[in-house]
Parts: sequence; C-alpha cells; structure tokens
Amino acid sequence: MLRKIGVIIVLIFLLLGCGETEEKKHISFHPGALWPDTEGNHINAHGGGFLIYDDTYYWFGEHKGINSRAQVGVRVYASKDLYNWENKGVALSVVDDENSKLQRGCILERPKVIFNKKTNKFVMWFHHELKDQGYSNALTGVAIADKVTGPYEYLDSFRIHAGVLPLNFSEDDFEKAELITDENTEERKEKVISGAYLKRDFEVGQMSRDMTLFVDEDETAYHITASEENRTLLISKLSDDYTSVTDEYIRVLPGGRNEAPAIFKKNGKYFMFSSGLTGWKPNPGKLAVSDDMMGHWTSLGNPCVGTEEEMNTTFWSQSTYVIPVLGKEDAFIFAADRWNPKNHIDGRYVWLPVQFKNDIPYIEWFDSWNLSFFNHDKK
Ligand code: GAL
Repeated sequence: MLRKIGVIIVLIFLLLGCGETEEKKHISFHPGALWPDTEGNHINAHGGGFLIYDDTYYWFGEHKGINSRAQVGVRVYASKDLYNWENKGVALSVVDDENSKLQRGCILERPKVIFNKKTNKFVMWFHHELKDQGYSNALTGVAIADKVTGPYEYLDSFRIHAGVLPLNFSEDDFEKAELITDENTEERKEKVISGAYLKRDFEVGQMSRDMTLFVDEDETAYHITASEENRTLLISKLSDDYTSVTDEYIRVLPGGRNEAPAIFKKNGKYFMFSSGLTGWKPNPGKLAVSDDMMGHWTSLGNPCVGTEEEMNTTFWSQSTYVIPVLGKEDAFIFAADRWNPKNHIDGRYVWLPVQFKNDIPYIEWFDSWNLSFFNHDKK
C-alpha cells in the first residue's frame, strides 16, 4: 500500500512538472568528453583562445562542421565559472564575397582575442589560409570589435616582417644562410636552423601558421607563431593598438618544429607549451621557458607525466591555450584539442590543471576534476 502511495506521489510530481528542476549545471571538468553548452549542444569552439574581461571568461574558437574549412567563422562562448558556457553567437563571420580573403571555405584557425585598454577595442588574430589554396599562404589575420562578443570587423591577413631581420639574427647570419635546394638531404635541418627559410621568405614576408597572443603585465602584447615551414617560432611585439606587428621580433627554437604555442607567466618566468608537427594526429607535448619574452628560450622537454601512450600523445590532444583562473594565485589550466578529422564538429576538449614541481610545470591526466584542485597547493 505504502509503495503504491509513493508511486502515485512521484507520478503527481512528474505531472505537475516538479521533476523538471532547473537546468543541469556542470560542476567539474571531464577531459575528452562531450561538453554541452547551456543549451545542451556540444561546444563548437576548437583551437580556442580565452579572454578574461569584466570577471567573465570568453572562449573564442573555430566553428567546425564535418570538415575543417570555415563555413561559419569564429564562435564565442561566455562563462563565469569555466564549467558552464553560454553560446554568444558568431564573433567573426566568413562572407560570401568572392573578392574577400575571408570567403566561406577558407581556413580560419586558432583565433585569439585581446583587449586594448588604450583604444578600448577587442583585437582578434587568427591563422588564415585562402580558400582552395591548402595551407600554402600561411597568413595571420586581424579583426577588431567594440564589444567583446563582436561582431568583429575584418581588417586584413598578411605575411609578417617582409624585409625585416629578427633582432637575434644579424646581417652576417643572413649572408651566411644557404637556401635549401634538395628538401631530402640531411643538411636540410642545419640549413633551416641557420635561416634558409627566413632568407627564402625575406622579401615576401615570413610565414605564420599556428599562433597565439600574450599580453604582459605592462600591457605589451606579443604575437607568437609557427613560421619557416613550421620549423621555427617567431615572437613579435605588437603595435600599441595591437592591430599590427612591429619590426621587433625574434626567432625562437630554430629548427625545433614547434606548433600550437600556448604561453603563460609565473613568478616572472614565461612558459610555453607546444606540440610537434603531425597535423591532426597527436604527438608528444613540449615545454620551453624564458626569463624574457624577447630573450632566449630553453627547451624543457615533454611536460606530460603518465603512461607512455599519454606522454607520446599529450593525452591524445594538442595544446591551444593556458587559461589563468580568476581569483586564484598561480592557477592555470592547460587547454587542448582532441581533434576528430573524420568529423571535426565532434572534436573534444582536454583541459587539465597545470601542476608544478620545483617550479617547472607538468600535466597529468584526470578523468574528472574541478577548480578546488588548485586550493590544495595553496600555502
Ligand atoms: C595542426 C595544427 C592545426 C591545423 C592542422 C591541419 O598541426 O595545429 O591547427 O592546422 O595541423 O592539419
């Protein structure tokens, strides 16, 4: 009898709609799982960049369909807690104009947005390849907006530093650099290190593919990009309004084959996560450190700690950004993409806490975790 009454009460509850409590909120991260936004759709912001503005996190990323061509543009989400993300629409749209570089079907990857306090503008940079030309153009693109969620107005896409030598590469080095005549020889790597591609592209401008931005405490902003056929990174100081690169730039880890750079700063040191070059397939992660953005960068090897497979694949992912956690000292999240080249929209996000041992960052796997993780390490 009691059981029957119980069932009846539950039924009445459901009929009255009391079963539909408020929408289910996320309270933890589940690396590699589907990640529904506040409307229940898997977040579509791959190769993402993050901006903290007005105590809110904004997640900008590639809106992907089945293939990886840009059919929509850059999507933006907002969150107060990093777990629950609200879709704020398309920040930068591709267009149907054949004469625009931003034509639908182009490649638009790894968008990053920073805020310029002097001009009050939001400035977006991204890796851009023109429609139907593969990855041959290697351009970096810029767009600006008055509102964080956009719409962003597209300015242009270009190669960088045409006719300008890096600060850490002398005219003498340039003279000595030999062009590569046979891509298959052993000496190729040596030639790359000594500036073969830099010399090749000197007049037309240097290549720019996977990229990120970093704004320092003094508001100086930097553009960090995979150049020289992805063999060497370039770090360039941005102009005061953040919409162009200045002539101040350096070559970083020449011949080191780094992609997917993601930078953060702790105790005056700059750390950079990156990956190797295997396209959508994962490879062992990398870490480098420097005391000065425009100074010497030293490789520190693979930051992943775990099984051989985890270390060889960066937990089956590729770095995209390091998110500083609001209100917590030295708390950073390693944000990465688990690409799905068979169905790009299904690509997953792998977020893991950055941990430190003797002040050197490392990353290990957690099936799930939440921000209280960072409290443990607080003194
Ligand atoms: C990856 C790169 C991605 C995308 C891909 C294309 O190495 O990090 O952003 O460009 O190659 O194959």
